Amino acid sequence: MKKIVILFSGSGTNLENIIKRLHGKELIVAKAITNNPEAGGIERARRYNIPVEIIDHRQFSEREEFDRELVASIKEVEPDLVVLAGFMRILTKVFTSAIPNAINIHPSLLPCFKGARALERSYASDMKVAGVTVHWVNEELDGGEIIDQSCFHRGDTMDFQEFERRIHSLEYELYPKVIRSLLTRGGPGTSGGESQ
Ligand code: GRF
Repeated sequence: MKKIVILFSGSGTNLENIIKRLHGKELIVAKAITNNPEAGGIERARRYNIPVEIIDHRQFSEREEFDRELVASIKEVEPDLVVLAGFMRILTKVFTSAIPNAINIHPSLLPCFKGARALERSYASDMKVAGVTVHWVNEELDGGEIIDQSCFHRGDTMDFQEFERRIHSLEYELYPKVIRSLLTRGGPGTSGGESQ
């Protein structure tokens, strides 16, 4: 079975969703790595017996040093795909040149609302559609090539809680679908088969 590594920093609901839907069925989550010793996702991953490694970024004086440690940890398991799920670190060339097969999910229709607080900014905007994007990771924050997106028409009366709920439910559908398709059909940087 194909192997993935998941990187996360926070509550880990996408991490758990990927584990529940795909782990042991269509792929193996070989390891989950977090930069945040307090991340809620640690407990979620352990519940499914996924090995968790904590690499606390505060113990490194430079981004490159942290990235070198991260790359070494990822390479230990030689994953077919690296999946960022709420991983809140800007990555340097040390990471992107060593790990070309990393994808990320972002809670907006990129290229709109790159960066932090995307959900809030997207909600506050006058755009009539909102959605989520899965993209390849490169050195530009949320700037890598788009792989897939999904969206909804928001109407005029949707409150923020409902907006957030809709965004997350799109994430929980789209991310496993993209992971599955990259691992079976391949894509740039994956070892999943022929490149598209
Ligand atoms: C998601 O909204 C994802 O799009 C963004 O960070 C959030 C992570 O949430 N990159 P969770 O940790 O998966 O619950």
